[in-house]
Amino acid sequence: MAQSTLAPASAPSDDKRWRQVDVRMRRLGYRPDGLIEVLHTTQEVFGYLDDDALAYVGESLGVPPSKVYGVATFYSHFTLKPQGEHTCVVCTGTACYINGASGLLAEVGRTLGVKEGATTPDGKVSVLKARCLGACSLAPAVVIDGEVHGKVTPPQLKTLLEAL
Ligand code: FES
Repeated sequence: MAQSTLAPASAPSDDKRWRQVDVRMRRLGYRPDGLIEVLHTTQEVFGYLDDDALAYVGESLGVPPSKVYGVATFYSHFTLKPQGEHTCVVCTGTACYINGASGLLAEVGRTLGVKEGATTPDGKVSVLKARCLGACSLAPAVVIDGEVHGKVTPPQLKTLLEAL
């Protein structure tokens, strides 16, 4: 059967956060002029934009990679994937905030000595925060190197970070 021209490309992974991006693209009718809104949603759910995300969004909306990168790098609002060897994304969405996200950010600061948005001086870990990781039932949630950890306590987070 012929594929519809509106059929999206395959998501880069089976990470369920892609569903939020897909829903946004569908609502916008996969229109190329929805690029900024979709990048915004993608960054909201992942905390930053990496190459796979930019390629997927571009392909799904029919926008050439150059334009996607152009937009993603032009607006200071967008954060491209940080350069640290590892990434730690702390969710600060409502559910996570209520369940102790600020304690987790404080623990990150104590353990790594850096704040959200920064990379440790040795280039090992980049710390980011996201508004909602789509795992609210696991609040407070943290994603370390793409793996979601739920109901995380500061001591558990310390252990996870020290193991990187
Ligand atoms: S608010 Fe943190 S996962 Fe939704």
